[in-house]
Amino acid sequence: MKQLNIGLFGFGCVGQGLYFALQHSTGFRANIKKIVVKHPHKKRIVDSDLIAYDKYEILDNPEIDVVVELIDNAEEAFEIVKMAMERGKHVVTANKKMLAMNLEELISLQKKNQLSLLYEASACGSIPIIRTLEEYFDNEDLLQLYGIFNGTTNYILTKTIDEGLDYQTALKGAQQEGFAESDPTNDVEGFDPKYKAVILCLHAFGLIIHPDKVLNLGISSLSENDIQFASEKSLKIKLLPVIRKIDDHQITAYVIPHFINNNNNLFKVDREFNGVIVEGEFSGQQFFQGKGAGSHPTGSAVLSDISALSYDYKYSFKKFEQNGHKKFTQKVLLDIYLRLNSKSELEQIIFEEIHSQYYSQDYNYVIGKISLEQLFRSQAYLREQKLFCAVIE
Ligand code: HSE
Repeated sequence: MKQLNIGLFGFGCVGQGLYFALQHSTGFRANIKKIVVKHPHKKRIVDSDLIAYDKYEILDNPEIDVVVELIDNAEEAFEIVKMAMERGKHVVTANKKMLAMNLEELISLQKKNQLSLLYEASACGSIPIIRTLEEYFDNEDLLQLYGIFNGTTNYILTKTIDEGLDYQTALKGAQQEGFAESDPTNDVEGFDPKYKAVILCLHAFGLIIHPDKVLNLGISSLSENDIQFASEKSLKIKLLPVIRKIDDHQITAYVIPHFINNNNNLFKVDREFNGVIVEGEFSGQQFFQGKGAGSHPTGSAVLSDISALSYDYKYSFKKFEQNGHKKFTQKVLLDIYLRLNSKSELEQIIFEEIHSQYYSQDYNYVIGKISLEQLFRSQAYLREQKLFCAVIE
């Protein structure tokens, strides 16, 4: 096992989690040589000699062979990753937005420079899903992969629905625990789980989809009436990214809240826990559960990647190499519950079939089939009007 010298960018929630995990790991040692941070006036828990403010103190340090990138800003992170790889350094990152927006270029960079870029911590925190897809499901066709990929929204849904907290207090709790993104819109509107779905789609189906093409509807418009609807039917509300094979040539993907019943393994996945269901053609269903957010669980996933580098591990993107013909499609029909402000809104959002509808003074909803294409076109309208939309199965 090689002794690795690390240059760490960012010392926030995940950076400190990694530091803790490294300090307490008994089986694996790596040296943090330098930590580059943004704010000079913040109090740090590490020796001040370790801290620097200039990125070149890491990038141009020949002793550093691994760059661990744990900053918030996706554009800056991409620049750091590119510069590190151009200088022959391996990279570990947890930055899901940066990865999802640049997957194609990042794969080329790895090939060109013969280096590793590992990012287990970017999707579903401590659940080792990327390496499982890469190493175990590399040869089996998958039918679908879906689950709870965002700890913040799952925490909010648990606290509001099961424990009766109001939305703002629950969100504040998620922020205090270090689960939420610095702009929590990314969590509650479903952007964060969408980036994770895009990353997992590459490893599970070999397809790169640009995040802008994937629908993400969140939970910010959830109302008491929607909660009441779920509880009367003994259903739970979970925000689920879904990636599904439609046929040998087409894959669909979306992030939409779902009403699920207690036969679904995700029913009992609460608080900041994430759950992933992988359905293979031969293997059937597998269910993975673990902490999806938080300092130590995410730090542990970063540590595991650093450890993998010590034995020269690389993703081989086997599904991507095999996939010459798969395309993304939104030509699928979904069973949808849509809470409306008024019936006239149905002129904007066209259902293919309506199965049931309810109108009263303060609560209106429609259940029926709607195409994903139509929902995608209506997403700005749904957000503006604060309509709550969920898949109901
Ligand atoms: N904000 C993210 C979440 C952090 O809540 O899941 C982990 O990626």
